[in-house]
Amino acid sequence: MIRVEGLTKNYGSLTAVDHVSFAIEEGICFGLLGPNGAGKTTTIEMMEGILAPTEGTILFRDQAIGANFHERVGIQFQHTALQEFITVEETLKLFSALYIRHRDLEEVIEICSLRDILKQDNRKLSGGQRQRLLLALALVNDPELVFLDEPTTGLDPQARRNFWSLIEKIRAEGKTIILTTHYMDEAQELCDDIAIMDHGHIIARNSPENLLSAHFEGVLVRLPWEESQPLPFPENVRRINNHIEIHSQDVDKTLHELIHAGVHLEGLSIHAPDLEDLFLKLTGSSLRS
Ligand SMILES: Nc1ncnc2c1ncn2[C@@H]1O[C@H](COP(=O)(O)OP(=O)(O)O)[C@@H](O)[C@H]1O
Ligand SMILES: [Mg+2]
Repeated sequence: MIRVEGLTKNYGSLTAVDHVSFAIEEGICFGLLGPNGAGKTTTIEMMEGILAPTEGTILFRDQAIGANFHERVGIQFQHTALQEFITVEETLKLFSALYIRHRDLEEVIEICSLRDILKQDNRKLSGGQRQRLLLALALVNDPELVFLDEPTTGLDPQARRNFWSLIEKIRAEGKTIILTTHYMDEAQELCDDIAIMDHGHIIARNSPENLLSAHFEGVLVRLPWEESQPLPFPENVRRINNHIEIHSQDVDKTLHELIHAGVHLEGLSIHAPDLEDLFLKLTGSSLRS
C-alpha cells in the first residue's frame, strides 16, 4: 500500500532518518518501534506528506503522493493543539467539514466511544478522552490508511488498553494502520508487522513472532544476584544490574544445575523473550532508558 525507499532526513549535521526502506501491505497494523529520538516521527511525517524528505521516495499504491493523498489518509499527530472553547461534537463537525470524503459522524462517535462527552469543552478532556477524540478526527474522512504517532504515550494502563481495543476495531474494518510506539508490549499486542528503529536506521523488520523466534530459542530464567557473587555457570548467563539472566533451552535442566550448584531459587522468575529483550539484544541498551 505504501512503500518508502532510501528515505532520509537531515537537520543540519544530524541525520534523523538515514536511508530507510520498507513497504507496508494493505490491511495490516504496522508498528514503527524505537526509543525517543530514534526517528519515528520524522519518518512517518515524511510518509504523511507533512515533512519534505532530504532524499528518497514514497509511493502510495505505486504512485508518488498526489494532491488527493490527504483525502485518503487519516493522521493522529504526536502533538496536536485542539481548538479551545468548542465542544467535542463541534470539533468533529469542524474537522469533518475540511474534507470532501466523509464518514457518518455517528459511526465515528460510536467507534471512538465519544457519546458521553460530545458536549464537553476540549479543555476539559482527560488524556484518554483527548486521544479518543484525536483518533476520531483521523477517521472523519473514512481514510484507507491511518497514521497514529505514539497514540498511547502518557495514558494510564487502563486508558491504554481501551485505546488498543479501538485500534483493533479499526483494523477489523480493513483499514491499514501505521503506528509508532516506544511500548514494546503495545507492538506485540497490536502489530502484524514491525520495524524497529534506532538512531535513524531500521535494525529489524518482521512480524513480532518471527523476530522473536529468529533471535531466541528457549526461555529466560532470572535470579537476583549480588554483584560480587561469582556466576553459577559461565555459559548463557548475563549479568544485568542486580540480577542474572540465564538463557535456557531446557528449564528442568537449568533448575537442576542451579540447585546442584547450591543456588537459592528465591526470587527466580521464568519468562518468554519479548520485544523488549530483542531490542536489548540488538542494541545493547534498554528501550526506555
Ligand atoms: N525540526 C527538527 N529540527 C532539528 N532536529 C530535529 C527536528 N525534529 C526532530 N529532530 C531530531 O531528529 C531526531 C529524531 O526525532 P524524532 O523523529 O522526533 O524521533 P522519535 O519520534 O523517534 O522520538 C532527534 O534527534 C530529534 O531531536
Ligand atoms: Mg516521535
